[in-house]
Parts: sequence; C-alpha cells; structure tokens
Amino acid sequence: EKDLYVLGIESSCDETAAAIIKNGTEIVSNVVASQIESHKRFGGVVPEIASRHHVENVTLVIEEALTKAGVQPSDLDAVCVTEGPGLVGALLIGINAAKAFAFAHQLPLIGTHHIAGHIYANHLVQPMEFPLLALVVSGGHTELVLMKEHGSFELIGETRDDAAGEAYDKVARVLNISYPGGPKIDQMAHESDGAVNFPRVWLEADSYDFSFSGLKSAVINYQHNAIQRGEEVNPHHVAKGFQDSVVEVLTAKTLRAAKEYQVKQVIAAGGVAANKGLRASLEKVFKEEGIPFYVPPLPLCTDNAAMIAAAGTEMFKSGVRSDWSLNGRPGMEL
Ligand code: KG4
Ligand code: ZN
Repeated sequence: EKDLYVLGIESSCDETAAAIIKNGTEIVSNVVASQIESHKRFGGVVPEIASRHHVENVTLVIEEALTKAGVQPSDLDAVCVTEGPGLVGALLIGINAAKAFAFAHQLPLIGTHHIAGHIYANHLVQPMEFPLLALVVSGGHTELVLMKEHGSFELIGETRDDAAGEAYDKVARVLNISYPGGPKIDQMAHESDGAVNFPRVWLEADSYDFSFSGLKSAVINYQHNAIQRGEEVNPHHVAKGFQDSVVEVLTAKTLRAAKEYQVKQVIAAGGVAANKGLRASLEKVFKEEGIPFYVPPLPLCTDNAAMIAAAGTEMFKSGVRSDWSLNGRPGMEL
C-alpha cells in the first residue's frame, strides 16, 4: 500500500506549528515557533499579539516542515488544521493558510479538534487501545475523555471553572513567577522541603468534574493573610502545597474513572501532563492497578502540529472532509 503523508497545522493559542506525519504515526518533521517570549511581560497570552505572530510565522513553519521532511506538496495526501477550540483570531490564521495550501495543491482539507490532537499525540509513540481514558490537562482544558474507538470521544468530566494549567499560571503570578508558571511551580514543588496544607476540591461524590478556582483563592488568601500578619511566606511550600492538591484530585478521579469504565489504557495529555509530580503520581497508581499508563514525551505534550496531523489522519482514513467554508470555532465541542 502507498504511504500516507499528512501536513498538520496548529495555531489555536501561542504556538505556530506545522508537521508532516507518515501513515498516521511516524513524525517526519515537526516545527514549532513559540511566542512565549512576546507574551511573558503581560503574564499571559494576548490574543491580538498571538494573531500577529501567527501571520508572520505560518508560511515559514509550513515551508520548514516540508523542507525538513524532504517532502514536496505533490507527495502529500491531505492537510489537517486545528478548527477549534482556541482563540478565534489565532485559529483563523492557521485555517486560512491550510485552505490556501490545500486549494493550491488540490488536496483534501480536514478541520481537526485541538483536544483530539492532544489525545492523539500519544498515538505517535504508543498505539491506542480501546476503551481508553484520556486526562487532558492544559492551559485551557481539564477533561476526562473516554474513547471506545478511533474518532469517538465521550466527555465524562471537565472543569467547572479554571483549567488546571490556568490555575498554575494564576498561582504563579501570585508568587511573582513569570508566564508560563506551570513548569516553574513544578520545579519549586520538587525542591521543597515542606508543604502548606491547601483544600482538595472533590465536588459531588460521583462527579468526574473538577474545580480549581477555590484552590487558587485559598493560595491567594494564604499569601494575603501572611503578609497582613507580617509573616514570611515560603514560596516553595506554597508551590508544593498547591501542586499536591491538584495532583491528588486529578489522580484520584482519573483512577476512579479508569476502574469504572474498565479501560485498557490510560493516557495523560496537554501541557500540564508535562508536570513531574502528576506523572509520578499517575504512574504509581496505574502500576499498582495494573492498567497501562502513558504520557507523550514533553515536546508532544505542549501544543504542536504533529498531534493535529495524527488525529487528522484517522479522520481522513474514515472519510471526514471539510469544505472551503471551514471556519474557526473557538468553543468547538469534542
Ligand atoms: O497544552 P498547552 O501547551 O497549551 C494549551 O493548549 O493550553 O499547555 C500550556 C499550559 C500552561 O498553562 C503551562 O503553565 C502548563 O501547560 N504547563 C505546566 C507544566 N508545563 C506546562 N503546568 C504544570 N507543570 C508543568 N511542568
Ligand atoms: Zn493545547
């Protein structure tokens, strides 16, 4: 059978990315232009700045992905692009670049869901086995997704307020740590010799939903009260206490869902899946439980286009096609 080459394009937030995937699982090239430096001084992603950077970079990253892969447009079988969710102005840059490329080279176009991409990142290193449970934790998402087959996604739990990564970034700001705060808090927690005891938010006993805004407020109040009393705050202890709370709740709910749905595989995905504390905790409980657990390597956890091409290849194989009216969908559901 002929090899399948797919170009993926991702621009939903603050990375402009393009990648070429062979046969759905083999990364031929994977190019990411990060904008983190431009957003740092604002403490978070500024949508208008993100869009401008995407405009400057999108053609360059596509060209680089082709050059690095040694692939001609005529070798390609499809173009996949993130359709949503994400920042609408940012999404539109990738989508229009994908449309222009697909139209010029007479290729099928496939709009792909960003979270499906995060989940399929793992498919690039470890074939999926169903039923599968995915914990998707990123700056914009905290979701438990059950997959019974390729392309089928059942949302069994999600955050009711802040995403896990968002909570990390907000707590980091309270501790005067620059954006993105997640990796730094993770490091501080790792080095800490103590922990502040913050609450765990479980919600209803049978719920797989999450809530992190109360925890974020608890950290802010702790800091505030200490300052009012003229006490020193140990930022390492705050970081560790915060991380312990997040990790304990994420781990317990993922474990309970994995058992209830008797899944064959558990994967963690998204930027926060890079968290050392979370990885260690999930690895430990699933080893004890005897359920295979996987996390993609770090560069595939954060936003990239290889994951979009991987998810898109499965859609392509099952006959999904988008037309030229493809539009950005900021609140797109799985
Ligand atoms: O998946 P991603 O690159 O972008 C979104 O789709 O949101 O995730 C970015 C998020 C940021 O909130 C960042 O602080 C967080 O992932 N993050 C981490 C770690 N590395 C990145 N959070 C906790 N621990 C980490 N090691
Ligand atoms: Zn993402």
